[in-house]
Amino acid sequence: MLTRRQFIATAAALGVLPPAAVRAALASNPFTLGVASGSPRDTSVVLWTRLAPEPLNGGGMPPGDVPVRYQVWADAEARRPVREGEALALARWGHSVHLKLEGLEPGREYFYRFAVGGFETPLARTRTTSRDDRAIKLAIASCQHYETNHYAAFRDMASWTPDCVVHVGDYIYEGAPSPLGARTREMFGRTVDFSVVRQHVGPETVTLWDYRNRYALYRTDPHLQAAHAAAPWVVAMDDHEIDNNWAADVPQDPEKQTPLEFRVRRLAALQAYYEHFPLEHPPLALGTDSSLQMYGRWRFGPALLHLLDTRQFRSDQVCGDGFPGAPACAAMEDPARSLLGPAQEAWLAESLTRSDAAYNVIASQVWFSPLRYNAPPAAPELNMDSWDGYGPARRRLLDVLGRGVAEPVFISGDWHCAAAMTVHEDPLDATTRTLAHEFAGTSIATPCPWAHRVTEARSHNPHVRYVNGDRRGYARFVVEPRQFTAQFRVVEAPQDPASRVATDLEIRTRDF
Ligand SMILES: [Fe+2]
Repeated sequence: MLTRRQFIATAAALGVLPPAAVRAALASNPFTLGVASGSPRDTSVVLWTRLAPEPLNGGGMPPGDVPVRYQVWADAEARRPVREGEALALARWGHSVHLKLEGLEPGREYFYRFAVGGFETPLARTRTTSRDDRAIKLAIASCQHYETNHYAAFRDMASWTPDCVVHVGDYIYEGAPSPLGARTREMFGRTVDFSVVRQHVGPETVTLWDYRNRYALYRTDPHLQAAHAAAPWVVAMDDHEIDNNWAADVPQDPEKQTPLEFRVRRLAALQAYYEHFPLEHPPLALGTDSSLQMYGRWRFGPALLHLLDTRQFRSDQVCGDGFPGAPACAAMEDPARSLLGPAQEAWLAESLTRSDAAYNVIASQVWFSPLRYNAPPAAPELNMDSWDGYGPARRRLLDVLGRGVAEPVFISGDWHCAAAMTVHEDPLDATTRTLAHEFAGTSIATPCPWAHRVTEARSHNPHVRYVNGDRRGYARFVVEPRQFTAQFRVVEAPQDPASRVATDLEIRTRDF
């Protein structure tokens, strides 16, 4: 007679857990992290879930893969079935399911759910893309520090039912827990109110175990789950998914982690990232070398979206760590430095040049537009982590845009500060030709203690039409053949998950 543990171990050795072992392992609901869909195409979309009956304890699944049932319908009432079958939750990838549904109709909604043992997920919505869509709704999200605020912004985003959500990073923050409660801090020359409303669990994330538990903690939030269940997402990480301000192989604090330690950490972080998103491809690893395909192109009706990866292939930051701005220095003008890496840069130039879309949307983690924190004519003080620190790379992309690319619109995150800006042929001279617009979303939840510095800098930055770093929220866009409308949504009480969310500004690209 086998014990339950021996039985599960025997089954695991065979690869797939048999039904009895699945039942034994799944004594409680394994769908604690919700569902998601992403990487939408004309005829396909990737559906995701992860079995995690103990989400903050590595997931709590025994070894072995688990068959999970899925069902897909054409309607929200689940009356018109489209597809059903079994997909494997793979132990290799933290018992996540990445199911690519193919053979779908373009520009259509689909509704899906997963089931295993006696448990099933709520019905969720996704949508395929189509170049024939007349109008499309995109939302951009970034910077959702779990400890500092709740996610009313995601509740609001879900209720808007976007065609796609673009997440440009800082989906998790890597830090250790902070003490609960309100306090003040002296930051950037003023006293800043600061609150911790709920806490991280576990130490600063370094290992695969740590990163899995951190993603799981964030994903247990019901409003974040609702936003994933409302629309497909396309995602690319920024810095905090691994380590603050990392660049390619270089961590934030090279004196505290060796190059090898950072490479192993990055490998773990990329694996956990894949395990928690409906990505088309897992990370590649060779020894401690690792990479994850995150940049890509999606066509949504009148808009062609390019999602960039400004972290994995960038040259290291230069000119010192001055914050929010450091004085420009000669090193930032080195043409050999890159923010995208040569392959991504060439791909973007080629794709933009061939595009026939009415609007060419470029989603970048960091701001493309400049922001100088001091008055001219002194050398500008700039955020060296953004495109400002990579002048020649920015000029190369502007050269491409200047060669007739229709209506380029950058959408970006990172800076915890909403903004609407024009992008000029000489980015620091607003009297030169306008080549593009930029809409920066604010942060979903992370504070912006330097907001007053951005506001004070406004008079030195005439290309900035709107800026607001004092509010949490997100930006959303309606793209029609002859109109691009942005709405900046702000959360009235970010520490309250039930807070009202309102529009702070609605503006069209043709308005400025
Ligand atoms: Fe952030």
